[in-house]
Amino acid sequence: MTPTTTDRAEASASRDATRLYPTKNDLPEAARLEEIELLNQRLADCIDLQTQCKQAHWNVKGPAFIALHKLFDEINEEVEEYVDLLAERIVQLGGIAEGTVGVVAERSTLVDYPLGLSTGAEHVAALSDALAMFGRTVRVGIEEMNELEDADSADILTEISRGVDKWLWFVEAHQQGA
Ligand SMILES: [Fe+2]
Repeated sequence: MTPTTTDRAEASASRDATRLYPTKNDLPEAARLEEIELLNQRLADCIDLQTQCKQAHWNVKGPAFIALHKLFDEINEEVEEYVDLLAERIVQLGGIAEGTVGVVAERSTLVDYPLGLSTGAEHVAALSDALAMFGRTVRVGIEEMNELEDADSADILTEISRGVDKWLWFVEAHQQGA
């Protein structure tokens, strides 16, 4: 019998909940299970952020068009690297990186990017909100990884939050200095 969508969803849910891929990584299994769940949450937020950068890149209009169009794509490219860092860390820990559109839509904690935005000021406001929100969740993640004594995951999240802070500066600078 061909598996239905529901069968597949159930199969993947039970696999996620009950088992890790074997690894010689010496981090304790219980900690890795928690880390995988927490990192998958950050992964969903990060993929959502990436789509929001593209949404801004495509739709921005006005006198600052070319600067913002290019900046938003530059941010998108770096956020894509953060997505990869998170997803591959999850797999290194023996987990499954859960990065499908369906999972992200359900799991992301970011506010949905408004579709009707047009001006540079509107996109700067919306994307700086998204970057700030994501930066906050990543910093929470650093604390969580420190508590679980996973210095490497904390380091990855620190690298990401450092980058996000830089991009927040680049975007917010458009609202300042007037
Ligand atoms: Fe483009």
